[in-house]
Amino acid sequence: MSETSKNKPVILSGIQPSGILTIGHLTGALRNWVQLQDTYECFYMIADLHSITSRQVPADLRKRTLDTAAMFIAAGIDPDKSTLFIQSQVPQHSQLTWVLNCFTGMGECSRMTQFKDKSSRQADNINVGLFSYPVLMASDILIYQADLVPVGGDQKQHLELTRNLAQRFNHNYSPTFKVPEPYIPKVGARIMSLQDPAQKMSKSDVNERSTIFLTDSDEQIRNKIKRAVTDSGSEVKFDETRPGVANLMTLYHAATGKSFAEIEMEFAGQGYGNFKSAVGNAVADYIRPIRERFVEIRNDKNRLNGILRHGAEQAGSCAMKTLRKVYKKVGFVSF
Ligand code: TRP
Repeated sequence: MSETSKNKPVILSGIQPSGILTIGHLTGALRNWVQLQDTYECFYMIADLHSITSRQVPADLRKRTLDTAAMFIAAGIDPDKSTLFIQSQVPQHSQLTWVLNCFTGMGECSRMTQFKDKSSRQADNINVGLFSYPVLMASDILIYQADLVPVGGDQKQHLELTRNLAQRFNHNYSPTFKVPEPYIPKVGARIMSLQDPAQKMSKSDVNERSTIFLTDSDEQIRNKIKRAVTDSGSEVKFDETRPGVANLMTLYHAATGKSFAEIEMEFAGQGYGNFKSAVGNAVADYIRPIRERFVEIRNDKNRLNGILRHGAEQAGSCAMKTLRKVYKKVGFVSF
């Protein structure tokens, strides 16, 4: 954190290291995060504590945590501008979570739609961590006194809870937490599954053909796009009733910056075949430099570890300031 960043509004966001990042993360999150770096004091974290609410293979979790960090940097997160860190390396998140757990109603957590969804998806592992997941998320945000939190629409309810917890604590004691606002990026760059365009593209989709990973080769990208489901008809026209073509147009727009009108004009009178190969090439060109940077950063272990160690120290000293106040207000003894 530079001296001049001290008065900037604060942003915090995170992604779980539960899979390889996809082109959806790039267009829906990382690309925005990069742009925010100059205007805000940004904290970007790899949310590994959240990941263990579902079963993880330890070696995979370790690898993916570092992959995710390297991908953040490859996508343009600059560790000299932003604080980039691994959640579990800043113990204050867990410490604040315990306190906030004691201010959260069972009913509030049981009403969370993500809790209900995940409970039905992992019925054999409905653990207390899954239940308290939004409280940990609230702690992530409140501990840095974040003003704004860039999240997808699926996290909006968690942000509402975060605001309620902040207000409740401030009201019970005295002003302690900044009450954060969600920052939900405009729709349009939302990328859907290539095999089922009614579903969001997901890093944990069982069908690999549905997803363009940021580590995919040019060849893999082109093949996946070639095999993407399209709709009946043959015109390249943006139309919500034809979600397959709309999704490919969104991808082409994300990769080239061309508007939908320009894209329609470019492919007027041509079939899906030409269009798909153009999309495949454009997306491959777009991902290639990111993938190449990723490989370079990931292979330089000392540098990556250094960045993450430094990030955790910076985050920890910020987080400590809030935690100290909270501990004092609730009546914990300090020497
Ligand atoms: N729960 C978020 C997700 O799965 C990730 C996350 C964890 C997060 N802590 C956060 C996002 C704090 C924003 C702020 O997408």
